[in-house]
Parts: sequence; structure tokens; C-alpha cells
Amino acid sequence: MLDGKHGKATQKAMEIITTLGEIYGAEKLIPVSSVQIAGVSYHNLGEAGLEYLAEMAEDGRVRVLTTLNPAGMDLTEWKKHGIPEDFAKNQQRVVEAFARMGVITTCTCTPYLIGNLPHYGEHIAWAESSAVCFANSIIGARTNREGGPSALAAALTGRTAEYGLHLDENRNAQVRYIVEADLENTDDFGLLGKVIGDRTKKRVPYIVGIESATTEELKSLCASIATYGGLGIFHIEGITPNRTPIPEETETVTQEDLEQARDELDDRDAEIDFISIGCPHASIKEIVRVAELLKGKKIAEGKTVWITTARPTKDLAIKMGYYDIIEQAGAFLVSDACCAVAPLKGRFKGLMTDSAKACFYARGKNKFRTEIRTVEECIREATS
Ligand code: F3S
Repeated sequence: MLDGKHGKATQKAMEIITTLGEIYGAEKLIPVSSVQIAGVSYHNLGEAGLEYLAEMAEDGRVRVLTTLNPAGMDLTEWKKHGIPEDFAKNQQRVVEAFARMGVITTCTCTPYLIGNLPHYGEHIAWAESSAVCFANSIIGARTNREGGPSALAAALTGRTAEYGLHLDENRNAQVRYIVEADLENTDDFGLLGKVIGDRTKKRVPYIVGIESATTEELKSLCASIATYGGLGIFHIEGITPNRTPIPEETETVTQEDLEQARDELDDRDAEIDFISIGCPHASIKEIVRVAELLKGKKIAEGKTVWITTARPTKDLAIKMGYYDIIEQAGAFLVSDACCAVAPLKGRFKGLMTDSAKACFYARGKNKFRTEIRTVEECIREATS
């Protein structure tokens, strides 16, 4: 591949993989069985990124199952969400370039919910931070947090360099957190992720005291720990599958810590005109719940509601009638995109969401004010 026998794009991709291997002192390359590429929104990529992709698409073809992170818009219903036409054209060009390379163009940060699901111990190359954290921690697969170009390079070569979270020694827990707070909803798990993420200084957490958690709660925790702590892996006693020595250093997370994290994410003067659920992308179970809450109700004037999800999940919601319930209420079931990567800056003043990660990006990228609440409270706010 390095010699160019497999084409220009593969040669360039292998150069990236071997350079990373040299930088991180990897002993060898290993095969990967699944790739997830981030940096899909034209909002983030810009013209230079698009040109790079178009060049790689000239003769590059993926060698393993490869899916995409959210794009900047719903690929079919973008118009009714107020996405400008020129942005839509460029976004389509990005997705087409990926499609030419054989990428499955489902644009989602929860690939594990829609068929890109590795198993325990499998080496993969994913880029979206919440999905990386989910794959390593909850599934027990092995991936570093790839950048857009390195994930694409792994897809085109079917290889990655063996370093970081591919190696046992970097996956061990380093600090123990005893949770003494009530965790009832996805927002609570997001807040827990913020508390631990803020404190842990990149040391791998071993969390004790969570008796049970749903997939939706775990994806919220993963998104938050990755956002606030920059972590790609953690352990929960009795829940996550990886083996690790138990660290001695111990800290406690109390109800007060959680409330303080909520206070930090709540802007008291927030004027809520945007409600978004589905960060990370909503599962069909979450969509059913939202549809039940919205049935027979109407979104209040001046408010916009996005439920963001993967396209196959949206298709299922359409088939089962949940899409109609949500849209008849005046909310939007948006696939392929999310409130952080869509070009929304300046369109809204305040976001209410159940996601601690969404608060982070809404503030940082879009300059929205934020409030974090349960899904039920979000829908109440949307309809009142
Ligand atoms: Fe996914 Fe966007 Fe949230 S990529 S994790 S929905 S910020």
C-alpha cells in the first residue's frame, strides 16, 4: 500500500497510518473491522476539507464496514428545517464523496444502534468521542479517538497502528469514584459524566455504586465523560465488561455534586426557544417516549423542537407512525444531523436539552444559553 500499488488514496492513507504509528511508538499495524468517520458536516469541513475528500474519492475505496458521524443537515428534509440551499448543496457533495469511497452514508454518532456494532475485544477505528467511549467502555471493543483523516485512512487501508487504547496497559482504571447520588434519567447520567470528567484529569475512572443503567443512560454518560474529561474509556463495577485492577485512590460523587453540575449548565436568564433531544442520537425507544409525550399536543409558538436520530431509526419511526405523531405536534424528527454540527448559530437564544454534551457545544459553538432537564421536562417546556 505504501508503494502505491493499491492506488494514490490508499498510499496516502497508509502514510497517515504509519506516521501515526511512528509518532506514538506503535510496534505494528493491526487490522480493524469497523470504522466510523467524523468531520462530516460541511460546517466543520469547509471547502478545503471537501477538496481533500474529493481527491481521496478518485481511487480510494473502503476495505471494512465504515459509517459516518452526523452531517450538518437532514439529508432529505433539510429545507423544512431552515437549512440554506448553498449549505445543503455542499453538504450533499461531502456525502457523495464518502459514498464514492463505499462508505455507508448513515450519518450518526450512535453507529452501534444501527448495525455498526463491534463485539468485545474487536479492534476498530472510530472518531466520534461519545461513540469511542461507548465502544471501549460499554462494549469492550478497542479504539483510539481517531481524527477525521486518520479514521478515513483506517477505512481505506483496513489497518490502524497499535497504540493507546488498543493496548491493555492503557485501559486500566486509575481512580475510583463512589457514586452516592440518585441517577434516574439520561440528564442525571450526563451530569455524572460532567462531574467525573471535570475532575478526572484524563485518568481512567472506575465507577462504583450504579446498580443498573439503560443503553440510553449509558450513551449519555459516555458523551459527557468524553466531552468534559476527554476520556475514551471508563469502567462501571458490575456493568461494563472490561477487566481492570481496582485503583486505590477514591473519590465520592454526591447528590450535591450533581446539583452543582446542573447549576453550572443552567443559565438562569435563559430564554428557551429551542429544545433538542437526541444527543447522542436518539434510540427508537427514546423516540417512542417522545411521541407518547407529544401525542395530541402542540409545540408552543416561538419554539423549535429537534429530535435527532440516525436515518434507519427515523425510517423505523416513520413506519411505526411515531414520525407522524411528532411532526403533527409541530416538532421535527431530524435524521443525519444534530444541534451541534448543523449551521444553527444565531438562529436561537436558548437551548433546553437532556444532554450535558449538547449544553457544552450549544454554548461554545452556537453561543446559546442552556438548561439541562429530563426529557419529560423538555417536552413540557416545548408545549407550554
Ligand atoms: Fe452526537 Fe451531535 Fe451529540 S454528534 S453526541 S448528537 S453533539
